[in-house]
Amino acid sequence: MPIKTSLARVRQRTTYKGKSTTSMYPRSIPSNSAQDQQTPKMIPELFTTWPPIWDTLDTKTSTAQDITIDECLPFLAAQVGDIRYNRRGVPRLERERHIKFLRKHLDGLPSGYVTLDASRPWVLYWCLNGLSLLGYDISGYRDGLVETARSMQNATGGFGGSMGHESHLACTYGMVLALSIVGGEDAYQVIDRRALWKWLCALKQPDGGFRMAVGGEVDIRGAYCAAVLITLLNLPLDLSSDSPAWTPDRPNLLTGLAEYVSRCQTFEGGISAQPDGEAHGAYAFCALGCLAILDAPHRTFARYLDVPRLISWLSSRQYAPEGGYSGRTNKLVDGCYSHWVGCCWPLIEASLAGPTNLMFNVNKNKHSDIDIHNIYSREGLIRYILCCAQDQSKKGGMRDKPSKGPDAYHTCYVLTGLSSAQHVTRLLASDGEGLMTHSEYDVSPHHGSPQIYEEEDRLEATDPVYFIPEGKRKQIMSYFLSKPGF
Ligand code: FPP
Ligand code: ZN
Repeated sequence: MPIKTSLARVRQRTTYKGKSTTSMYPRSIPSNSAQDQQTPKMIPELFTTWPPIWDTLDTKTSTAQDITIDECLPFLAAQVGDIRYNRRGVPRLERERHIKFLRKHLDGLPSGYVTLDASRPWVLYWCLNGLSLLGYDISGYRDGLVETARSMQNATGGFGGSMGHESHLACTYGMVLALSIVGGEDAYQVIDRRALWKWLCALKQPDGGFRMAVGGEVDIRGAYCAAVLITLLNLPLDLSSDSPAWTPDRPNLLTGLAEYVSRCQTFEGGISAQPDGEAHGAYAFCALGCLAILDAPHRTFARYLDVPRLISWLSSRQYAPEGGYSGRTNKLVDGCYSHWVGCCWPLIEASLAGPTNLMFNVNKNKHSDIDIHNIYSREGLIRYILCCAQDQSKKGGMRDKPSKGPDAYHTCYVLTGLSSAQHVTRLLASDGEGLMTHSEYDVSPHHGSPQIYEEEDRLEATDPVYFIPEGKRKQIMSYFLSKPGF
């Protein structure tokens, strides 16, 4: 949309400020059926009105923000025809359509995906993970995935983005997660752990971080991807003597990694890709995931991060009336941040509550515990996801925002965000400390009061650190725990 038209529309809209939301929707938005209109919807005003504090200075970003609110409000206020809303103003999860959408992406990619030719492992992970969250049995994809994975593995270690591509840490992470989801010995045995370990040693840097590829950039994605691979596959921690990080005092693959993550926290409280960069939600997720792997989050978060400042920054990412998250300051809400920012909360909450002994019900019903598991607006996020981020056409799938089309990336990460908002994550008590004592979590259904969505629309729970089904995470870890060394 040309910016001039947008500005004209926004200016026109501002004359409605302060009036009821129904009156300010553009006429072009079709109304619900006569019967639906007669049933008042119970939607908190927070999600149907313009923010009380509103930036009147017209800039490129404030205009873009106004246009986004304008575009989301009809969906949030249950004013879009063809969508059936419940009495709380929330549509059903279009489960079957989303399943069909993801399955179609596993049958053969639509031509628009040519730009993702170097990200094939990611597409496989997004589809298989999304299908698992939706409760679809993905075992039929195992044989095909095993063959595809073999074709993308390099003898020098790691997986490329496609056949014949150079190994990349993000692609390797995506492929190992995809193999973990289908599970089983055939899938695990594809992975050449010795070559992978050697390759990770080549990526490890003297400053504690990891390069994304040989000769590539060092950033916090590397810290998280490496921590995931090392622990899922039970790789030895020793560094090979030709590693750029090797010194005579024998550092290992994890030496200095938490300190590297710590240096990526910015003055805003969020986390950047590299020290001294701009804070972004995707990197906050990588930082917390990495620290939660290195040791239990109630120890590592406080030791390596300014947690109050981080919480303040994460909270500022959730917008009203949209209810969803932005990725960084002064940017727009986008469905995928339901994962990158939204999935930081379960770890933050678990770290604040500390370990819980479920058997003795310690911490479960205490007032502090109830507050800790409600430190962000689950309702806002669920409303954004079900009202704005679902493609309501027959093709299904999830999207960034109503004006955008659905894709596999957004479908996966909107669904992980929805699953995490529908569950409560508690860190379970354990005796040990450090990497060798893997933290376990209890992830159980969260019951909102009121619960704004139908119980049938609850997704499967997911592992809050590795983002694969918890059972599949346990299976691969126990398989490789029984195979130390190579
Ligand atoms: C900005 O996009 C996006 C980034 C700066 C981060 C992208 C990184 C990831 C998605 C994380 C990858 C994670 C792993 C585990 C490898 P933009 O400028 O289009 O969006 P914005 O306007 O919302 O910031
Ligand atoms: Zn997005």
